[in-house]
Amino acid sequence: MKYDFDTVHNRENTNSIKYKPHPRYPNVQDIIPMWIADMDLQTAPGITDALQSASKDGIFGYTEFDDEYFDLLIAWNKKRFGFDIRREWIVPCESVMFGIAATIRALTDTNDSVLILEPVYYPFANVIKDNNRRLVVSELKYDGMRYSIDFNDLENKIIEDNVKLLLFCSPHNPVGRVWDKEELNRVTEICIRNNVIIISDEIHSDLVYKKHFRTASLSNEAADVTVSAVSVTKTFNLAGIKGADLIIASADIRNKIKKEILSVYSGGPSIMSVVAAKAAYRYGEAWLEELLQYLKSNADYVIESFANTKIKPIVPEGTYLLWLDCRELGLCSHDLEKFFIQDCGVWMNNGFIFGKGGNGFMRMDIACPKSILEKAISQIKKHL
Ligand SMILES: Cc1ncc(COP(=O)(O)O)c(C=O)c1O
Repeated sequence: MKYDFDTVHNRENTNSIKYKPHPRYPNVQDIIPMWIADMDLQTAPGITDALQSASKDGIFGYTEFDDEYFDLLIAWNKKRFGFDIRREWIVPCESVMFGIAATIRALTDTNDSVLILEPVYYPFANVIKDNNRRLVVSELKYDGMRYSIDFNDLENKIIEDNVKLLLFCSPHNPVGRVWDKEELNRVTEICIRNNVIIISDEIHSDLVYKKHFRTASLSNEAADVTVSAVSVTKTFNLAGIKGADLIIASADIRNKIKKEILSVYSGGPSIMSVVAAKAAYRYGEAWLEELLQYLKSNADYVIESFANTKIKPIVPEGTYLLWLDCRELGLCSHDLEKFFIQDCGVWMNNGFIFGKGGNGFMRMDIACPKSILEKAISQIKKHL
């Protein structure tokens, strides 16, 4: 490999959230953090070089997006997803969750219903409730190997609860699905039929082991009802630098969201987020291709290591988050967490926080050097 993903970097004392003491188990020594979704891997060298060069002069004044930023974003979407976007469709914002919160406020009223498919990235439920909207949940179906959407339940809930917005995760964190074209078509058809607008959170869309389709790219009708949320932060490990884009074809929807974003005065972008995003699009693709091979081999390693044990990893189609079915261990969620953290010294996300269907599962972030993964797996296997 041309790029180095094997070196272990010391992230202690860097204000990293991932490396802070565990709130409930602060005394566990040498805990291996595999919970929050950032990588223990250095970003692409072209991005580091661009950031270093931008800080050389020590001047960090107000900044704005230039033509190059939009052109690079448009070219990336065309090349990697076959998605044609017009420049005016792009609405940059601070982060994906910021964009989702703004979209919810812009397109719905207090107490309106917003639907999510659980188990899902847990801030989805919070952002709906925190903005005083009504949370409606349709649970994904799980056949012991793979997750799928319960389309009948989805449409029934939309009708019964008068749902206005679908907050859709594609690829889906934490269950690792990259939705097929046919599944996406059914979701958009249901939403169009019932006047539901889709926020399609596609932050994980570059991190896939099969083809990803942007929801909005399926048809003109789909584009008209979809707000796509994209970012380079997950792909290139830039979460602490921040930045995201909403891509919105409908002028009406776009204007409402722009107005909402203006009203909270978040101002222009961080200078470093513009530099990093442009460098990522310009120089990051070769690094990304190698990263994907590395992550896939990490996922394969975990799956092989847990073969014939009571831990059943779901084979991921995308994301660097492995969803582990631990129900055969027969532990309640409290004891499951205690087992992994206190006994094994491996800090993962407890599945129950992802909502319905999450009990008995754990989410493991495998975006780390292989040696860390080996250590974590061996500690877990020792205690199984
Ligand atoms: C599905 C999903 N959306 C949004 C985020 C957070 O994005 P941001 O930091 O840009 O708000 C994450 C982070 O893990 C995520 O998994």
